Amino acid sequence: MKSLYKVYGSRADKAAEILRNSAGRDDKLAGLPVTAAVVDANFEVRRGEIFVVMGLSGSGKSTLIRMLNGLLSPTHGTVEIDGVDITKLKPAALRKLRREKISMVFQHFALQPHRSVLDNAGYALEIAGLPRAERREKALQALRMVGLDGSADKLPQELSGGMRQRVGLARALAAGTDIMLMDEAFSALDPLIRREVQDQLLGLQAELGKTIVFITHDLNEAMRLGDRIAVMRAGRIVQIGTAEEILTDPSNDYVAQFVADVDRTRILTASAVMERPLGVVDVNSGPRVAARVLRETQTSAVYVTGRDKRYLGTVTADAATQAVRDGRKNLQEIVSTEYAHTVEDTTPVADIFAASAQSPAPVAVVDSAGRLVGVIPRVTLLSALGNLSTDTAGATATPGPADEVGTSPTTDPTRAVGAAGTAAPTGNGDPTAEVPAQVVAEPSARLTGEPA
Ligand SMILES: Nc1ncnc2c1ncn2[C@@H]1O[C@H](COP(=O)(O)OP(=O)(O)OP(=O)(O)O)[C@@H](O)[C@H]1O
Ligand SMILES: [Mg+2]
Repeated sequence: MKSLYKVYGSRADKAAEILRNSAGRDDKLAGLPVTAAVVDANFEVRRGEIFVVMGLSGSGKSTLIRMLNGLLSPTHGTVEIDGVDITKLKPAALRKLRREKISMVFQHFALQPHRSVLDNAGYALEIAGLPRAERREKALQALRMVGLDGSADKLPQELSGGMRQRVGLARALAAGTDIMLMDEAFSALDPLIRREVQDQLLGLQAELGKTIVFITHDLNEAMRLGDRIAVMRAGRIVQIGTAEEILTDPSNDYVAQFVADVDRTRILTASAVMERPLGVVDVNSGPRVAARVLRETQTSAVYVTGRDKRYLGTVTADAATQAVRDGRKNLQEIVSTEYAHTVEDTTPVADIFAASAQSPAPVAVVDSAGRLVGVIPRVTLLSALGNLSTDTAGATATPGPADEVGTSPTTDPTRAVGAAGTAAPTGNGDPTAEVPAQVVAEPSARLTGEPA
């Protein structure tokens, strides 16, 4: 949608024009009998993604989603679906487009009480004029997808809330449209049932690859389901990003407060909190190089990589010194995987604690190809718990993941210890500081200092 506005009230056009010319100053509307429900929405939903629109009650979510299928016409702006501007379509063409491309799932299921579950599931197909047999077959197939084929002949009132919502989902699936709009579809459900239905949606989505716009005011649901999330406030979209982006880099105080309560250890992954390892050496570079890097970085272990930057393990100061004495030529034989445990970059922070507790040196983070992409010192992990970053004012004043998790030099006492030369074998205060390029014996293009 481009430059999309919806203003309710008798002077809507006038108000939209004022808003367009007032550069975000809503106070210019003072006196007009209008509600600006959606103001200047611009975004693109990608094919096959779950795009979540999140915001408090009254922020304009339903108004927005209703403009996506033409149930509401915008006061200004365009909505394109597959290149067709639906705001220009005649009613008949719009109905056809809806039938063929878009289904909607509502909060209160909107099931018809006197029709069977099967007939409810096939309702859109009936409207579309499909013959009965074909309709039944498709409806049954959709019910099977949501695990309700056994209840096909029941009436809605014989079902639980979760089951009813599944019928709503099946009805949308039976229609076979590529696009699904879901407005607070799970909000009426109990938390546990809600989780189940969310899981089901995610499972179905992995198979079907629909394009889904999902509206919720529940942050955890948004984080769980959304490939990307748009945060709405008072009609405006104030941020669009992945769950991780929104958590680590909220665009303003409002978003920061919105996400303050979320369990970020489940959302944040290793790649979001990892830091650049201080000392990395190539396995062929020999114990002397390792010893030098250890000295210069004042750390207790260097991270050793092999061919293609694949992570092999660490070499400790003791092992390096011994190897120099023994006249060894490379590090192969003294590399250990005990000293630093390994996690993948996609591992949620919550699942890194065990590795961190058992690992004397900062946990090594590898990508799917086994390449070393970063390290996570224990202090970083603890900071990521969120206790150190609930100061949202601070987060917006100094945006960026490193500050967000509270590991800047001034807030990290252990770093000062490391810099003073007491390279603690516990790993605390190890390679967390800025890395001077010259101490990285084997600078790797893949070692980005910035968390992803
Ligand atoms: N038909 C209407 N006429 C006038 N004002 C409306 C109408 N529909 C919605 N509004 C107003 O527009 C604003 C946005 O409403 P909308 O229903 O889009 O919010 P929402 O984000 O979906 O809220 P909720 O989470 O409660 O469903 C609100 O201030 C609402 O009062
Ligand atoms: Mg709503």
